[in-house]
Amino acid sequence: MRILSGIQPSGSLHLGNYFGMMSKMIAYQEQSELFCFIANYHAQTSLSDGKTLARGTLEAAANFLALGMDPDRSTFWVQSDIPEVQELTWILSNFTPMGLLERCHSYKDKVAKGIAANHGLFAYPVLMTADILMYQSDKVPVGKDQKQHVEVARDIAIKFNNEYGEIFTIPEPEIDDEVATVPGLDGQKMSKSYGNTIDLFADDKALRKQVMRIVTAPIAVEDPKDPDACNVYKIFRLFLDKARDAALRQRYKDGGLAFGEVKQELFETVRDFFAPHAARRAELLADPDGLRAILARGADKARYAANKTLRKVRKKTGLVY
Ligand code: ADP
Ligand code: TRP
Repeated sequence: MRILSGIQPSGSLHLGNYFGMMSKMIAYQEQSELFCFIANYHAQTSLSDGKTLARGTLEAAANFLALGMDPDRSTFWVQSDIPEVQELTWILSNFTPMGLLERCHSYKDKVAKGIAANHGLFAYPVLMTADILMYQSDKVPVGKDQKQHVEVARDIAIKFNNEYGEIFTIPEPEIDDEVATVPGLDGQKMSKSYGNTIDLFADDKALRKQVMRIVTAPIAVEDPKDPDACNVYKIFRLFLDKARDAALRQRYKDGGLAFGEVKQELFETVRDFFAPHAARRAELLADPDGLRAILARGADKARYAANKTLRKVRKKTGLVY
């Protein structure tokens, strides 16, 4: 079973990114063959500053590696290190009806928000299709917003296979409805755009400040409290095993629990949980050439798999003469 996912490089990471996506991705390595890449071509649809993209790409790679991506066990690379994916995008464009792209919600939503539509934004799902088909992926874990793009990939793969035979594996989207949305400081979904995040690699002072800002109800210390109605608990439980979770719930119900105290404990828990990863991240970022070497080895593995597919495609479509 080959699992593939692409992740756009985006600035700092928060607990929602970690528990909603990264920890799952890292866990896939235990059971499956994982292909995972930094989608820097896709990021170009919303980012034009070259320095920011280059820096963001290295940081995203360091984040993943520090949090447990194992480059020996998995194939982990930067999308643009295999520019062959653009050749496949072009070939697949000829099997992509305009209507299929015109129906894509993510494109329509962006246009509705007033983002000027360009060809990159419109053709984004074809590049994503090439990512998926190039590596013969069986399963593609994505958030709900990306499900339609995996369906586009299926449609294009079926159309292509109908013409040329069984060249591509037909991919399945995998949507995990189980993963609850991680709430932010104010109880809404934790998101960069809401400014309500707890960041993974903030320094202690900034982290403590974020945790102390978690919104709580005005309930007296001595009164019993409902843990499930408390934003601090909803975040804290992500870090707790069964026994510690039960103990914390009991303290809420018994009364006598001060929110300031439990926030301090949460701060220490988050800090201690990520401290070893933060140290590893700092090491990786301090040696960008070492990091590039890890990514180059990942690209070699990805290129090998890509060329297997591309050779067949070029032959079938008449590019080999
Ligand atoms: P943001 O909303 O902060 O911009 P992104 O859209 O960059 O986050 O999210 C990247 C990935 O992290 C998403 O695919 C999603 O799976 C996961 N994610 C982000 N926020 C949360 C959250 N609050 N709860 C669960 N998963 C999340
Ligand atoms: N479009 C995806 C996102 O924004 C990233 C992505 C690019 C991707 N190519 C992919 C995801 C291939 C899965 C498979 O989240």
